[in-house]
Amino acid sequence: MAEHDKITPYLKEETAKKEQVAEMFDNISHSYDFLNHFLSMGIDKWWRRKVMKLLKMSAPKQILDVATGTGDLALAALGANPDKVIGIDISGKMLEVGKKKILRKNLSDKIEMIQGDAENLPFGDQQFDAVLSAFGVRNFGDLNKGLSEMSRVLKVGGRALILEFSIPKNVIFRNLYYFYFCNVLPFIGKMVSKDSRAYSYLPESVRAFPDGDKMAEILKNCGFKKVQCIPLTFGISTIYWAEK
Ligand SMILES: C[S@@+](CC[C@H](N)C(=O)[O-])C[C@H]1O[C@@H](n2cnc3c(N)ncnc32)[C@H](O)[C@@H]1O
Repeated sequence: MAEHDKITPYLKEETAKKEQVAEMFDNISHSYDFLNHFLSMGIDKWWRRKVMKLLKMSAPKQILDVATGTGDLALAALGANPDKVIGIDISGKMLEVGKKKILRKNLSDKIEMIQGDAENLPFGDQQFDAVLSAFGVRNFGDLNKGLSEMSRVLKVGGRALILEFSIPKNVIFRNLYYFYFCNVLPFIGKMVSKDSRAYSYLPESVRAFPDGDKMAEILKNCGFKKVQCIPLTFGISTIYWAEK
């Protein structure tokens, strides 16, 4: 097992990472959207819009959003004018929040939310024109398995767009970022979400996660080619844009 797959939310050796991750997102689902926008000072919305701009370039009709959570990327993906977006997530409670948003916006005919595991996607080979994931892949129990599944369900020539946290290259900015990410963010996150580990697991999992060229290499080993890394906001996050 790779080192990054061993980073777990609740540090319980007897419980698989996947189960701990599902439990954690169930626990924080009620405050997830608020904390996401608050702790990132709204920058996460800009990052998702950037993904959407790239998505639009290939005019996909069938889109899969893996680890869709409360559905913000699935909703943003409608900007590419697809026929259908399917969002899949392992956490039932994150999906409940997402489903309510979709109902409120009257978009149930365009977006379908289903519960399932990214490492065993319930879809046939080459079913989608585009496969997306925002801040999801870092949480997979087995990164290679999840990425290989994303490649399997993508049509040949289709695009995957993966948005994930990364480590800024500039030393001064990196230190400022670590201070915020490892001290301020866990403190506020714990207070608001009432989960003592979720917002400590976040920086721990980001620090252990492969980024840039390492992630590009992993994507190539999982069935993708022409992988481009697009760092955003001094490299706090990166879009991986890959073709099957
Ligand atoms: C940080 S949230 C991101 C949610 C959403 N994509 C966003 O941008 O806000 C990570 C999501 O990944 C989901 N997840 C983690 N492992 C998963 C797996 N193996 N299969 C499906 N979903 C998974 C979690 O349940 C959680 O909703």
